[in-house]
Amino acid sequence: MGTIRITLALLSLLGPTTVLGREAPVQEQGRPVQVLDYGYVSSEECRSCHPQNHASWHASYHRTMTQVATPEALAIPIEKADLKLEGQTYRLRREGDWLWADMPHPSMGRIKRRIVLTTGSHHFQMYWFSSGSTRKLELFPFVYAIQEGRWIPEKSTFLMPPSPRISTQPGRWNQACLQCHTTLGRPRVATQDNMDTQVAEFGIACEACHGPGARHVQVMSRPGSLEAYRSGKLELDIVNPAKLPHDRSSQVCGQCHSVFTFGDRQELVQWLNHGFSYRPGQDLNASRFLIRYQQSRGAPQMEAFLKAQPRFLESVFWSDGMVRTAGREYSGLLESGCYQMGQMSCLSCHRLHKAPEDPRPLKSWANDQLQPRMDTNQACLQCHPAFESRLEEHTHHRPGSPGSECYNCHMPHTSYALLKAIRSHQINSPTVAASLKTGRPNACNQCHLDKTLAWTAQNLQKWYGVPKPKLSREQETVAASVLWTLKGDAGQRALMAWSLGWEPAKVASGSGWMAPYLVQLLEDPYDAVRFIAYRSLRQLPGFSDFQYDYVDSPQRRAQARLKALEIWRRTGRQHRTANGSAVLFDGRGNLRQKVFDRLLSQRNDYPLGLAE
Ligand code: HEC
Ligand code: HEC
Ligand code: HEC
Ligand code: HEC
Ligand code: HEC
Ligand code: HEC
Ligand code: HEC
Ligand code: HEC
Repeated sequence: MGTIRITLALLSLLGPTTVLGREAPVQEQGRPVQVLDYGYVSSEECRSCHPQNHASWHASYHRTMTQVATPEALAIPIEKADLKLEGQTYRLRREGDWLWADMPHPSMGRIKRRIVLTTGSHHFQMYWFSSGSTRKLELFPFVYAIQEGRWIPEKSTFLMPPSPRISTQPGRWNQACLQCHTTLGRPRVATQDNMDTQVAEFGIACEACHGPGARHVQVMSRPGSLEAYRSGKLELDIVNPAKLPHDRSSQVCGQCHSVFTFGDRQELVQWLNHGFSYRPGQDLNASRFLIRYQQSRGAPQMEAFLKAQPRFLESVFWSDGMVRTAGREYSGLLESGCYQMGQMSCLSCHRLHKAPEDPRPLKSWANDQLQPRMDTNQACLQCHPAFESRLEEHTHHRPGSPGSECYNCHMPHTSYALLKAIRSHQINSPTVAASLKTGRPNACNQCHLDKTLAWTAQNLQKWYGVPKPKLSREQETVAASVLWTLKGDAGQRALMAWSLGWEPAKVASGSGWMAPYLVQLLEDPYDAVRFIAYRSLRQLPGFSDFQYDYVDSPQRRAQARLKALEIWRRTGRQHRTANGSAVLFDGRGNLRQKVFDRLLSQRNDYPLGLAE
């Protein structure tokens, strides 16, 4: 989502003279519109001949990524909502089929605008209102968190330094979000106030992955065409990603699931007027500049990009070049041995239409769109079959243990987005050296939360012959999770807040000692960290009814914190664990508060923002 700032910055670098565009008429709906052009015909045209593919796509979150804000599109039925932020009231009211937002405006007093478009339908939903002129959109400053069933301020949805900023982000949808949230979006920006934005289709539809379908539909509608195709006399004129080589196939997804900028000025101008020139099946590198941490350095596109966004790299990558934000899976795949030396693609594990033989209901397939059993070791064993018979020999955990799942050691939850930790899509192996260099939790310590880096280094040496790096006394004696939770930067704290609620980690580490750490994170300066900590804390015994609001006033949050400590004292008398001293408990099960406070006073308050 951080790409927005970059696009705007690039636009300003380009200067007003080069920005093309037409006179945009004021439209009745005042929102971007679907216009079929460039050989795109829309998903409706495919439905009659491909009902099954249409049905599974229809159930996918790709389809509902961007929707016109009709009642069916809303994540919950909304009649009215009165929301408060920084002393101001924001109201939503239904009038007939539409929602209206009534809210303060910096120069116009209160304004009333129609909600015209929504973004998202899985974890979050955002609401865009018409700016009143042309097709430019602005963002309603509250987001609906679907799983939590509550409204949250938009500025408290992302991992970024605390700020009183409330912005409706005028024009950002038109210039940024449409890149990856629609099918062939065309910003058509004449000026910052005049946008005539068009898309082929809202949401991510058939032609985003299969390419424009006009010729295919035309050819296949002719009588006898199926026979002609079957006897090899007819080209289908449509792309099937499964039939492309693994690199081209992954690029179909990489057009949205990657970190990129424009290949050159011509491509930027092309995009502004006609959308990206890339079509499925083509080489994505020909029209985009894919940003890679090591390889991109020194390239002119990269220099220009970093000039517009000097802190971009740290907002997306760990310092060894691994992607740390989710939604950028293709960038992780590119750096993986299985892709570089093998044929891995997104389709090794994912399937974009539920297979006919897949017994799961559509809804469970739609969550992550994986092939059957590709959430198990089967995902890796399909190419590494030798590990099946020597599983325990390789993992040193009994079969069936979470410590024997390939994913847990080779694709651990070190990426962040959407107020949760997400599996890295760069295949990597746990090392203590990488944790020391980058601050990224290694897979062993992200599950064994009660263990030190020294413990991990010893076992890695014993089991895999990995040389043990030099460690400080603190790293030898205090659990790594404790150091990341108390002394870490906001990115590390967010991952720890999530890990302390992860079931396999609780099995491996015991959970009796965790409450004081999560309670500490309820007071974190970063909104996102507090949100995640509360979600994890509520999973602990005794806390299911504990009430706390992460965007409440600091005073009320401090009161809630005291209450949480009280619950912990009442319920958690057996905090002693086998390795209690590493998690700062003395022999009698009391927290060593002094050490705790000293480590906390060393918290890394570097202002980190992640470009999710
Ligand atoms: C008039 C019927 C018809 C329409 C409309 C139609 N298709 Fe097809 N499509 C076919 C036939 C027939 C085949 C080939 C037979 C088969 O394998 O099912 C095919 C095959 C395909 C394939 C597989 C190609 C391959 O090489 O494996 C894709 C992908 C596809 N269509 C996508 C689309 C999309 C996207 C649309 C809408 C833009 C669409 N089709 C509209 C009839 C149609
Ligand atoms: C470079 C491509 C890209 C751009 C640009 C982009 N997004 Fe996304 N967005 C994604 C991807 C990919 C995901 C899915 C991430 C995942 O599921 O882990 C996503 C997910 C989301 C979600 C969660 C949706 C849900 O159903 O829960 C929201 C909300 C969102 N984006 C908002 C935005 C907004 C607002 C903008 C513009 C300001 C934006 N994004 C720009 C690629 C992008
Ligand atoms: C996000 C990307 C994406 C979207 C959107 C998408 N497809 Fe596909 N489609 C694929 C991929 C990838 C395959 C290869 C098989 C698979 O993964 O399911 C495929 C396969 C197909 C096939 C070949 C038969 C099969 O199931 O293998 C047809 C036909 C097809 N899609 C039609 C459609 C139609 C029609 C739509 C819209 C209603 C659509 N697709 C939307 C990615 C997509
Ligand atoms: C036009 C942009 C675009 C293309 C092309 C695209 N995606 Fe996505 N993808 C998104 C966005 C945006 C989301 C967020 C949707 C949501 O979760 O609401 C997403 C979500 C997903 C999800 C998570 C679904 C969920 O919510 O659980 C998976 C998995 C995924 N995409 C895989 C793929 C694969 C594999 C391909 C290539 C075959 C692909 N995507 C092509 C933009 C795209
Ligand atoms: C080795 C198997 C594998 C490959 C290859 C793979 N994925 Fe995934 N992907 C997964 C698994 C497993 C999950 C579910 C993660 C979880 O449970 O946390 C997932 C989840 C996702 C999600 C949803 C993340 C979330 O929780 O919001 C997206 C988006 C996604 N993958 C996109 C891609 C794209 C794009 C590619 C190719 C560039 C790709 N994946 C390649 C296994 C894979
Ligand atoms: C499409 C095939 C394919 C899939 C799926 C696959 N791999 Fe690989 N992988 C390879 C190939 C080929 C290599 C390089 C040769 C080798 O080391 O066996 C490789 C290399 C590796 C390496 C060494 C990496 C390096 O940089 O030296 C690791 C670790 C690995 N794979 C783990 C996994 C895990 C874990 C999974 C499942 C999450 C997985 N692989 C899925 C094909 C695959
Ligand atoms: C408990 C953690 C753990 C689990 C679980 C695990 N691995 Fe590994 N794996 C490692 C470590 C650590 C290394 C690196 C060893 C080294 O540096 O030599 C490694 C290395 C590898 C390699 C590259 C070196 C080699 O031996 O070929 C492959 C391939 C691999 N693992 C595949 C898998 C597969 C497939 C699975 C699941 C069946 C799996 N791993 C499960 C920890 C694990
Ligand atoms: C996803 C969770 C998970 C991951 C990742 C994981 N383990 Fe484990 N580990 C467990 C669990 C659970 C047990 C308890 C016994 C069992 O289930 O096998 C365990 C047991 C152990 C034990 C023996 C019991 C003990 O506490 O001394 C050692 C040693 C160990 N793990 C080391 C490691 C190392 C080293 C790594 C990284 C290479 C690792 N584990 C990765 C979950 C994990």
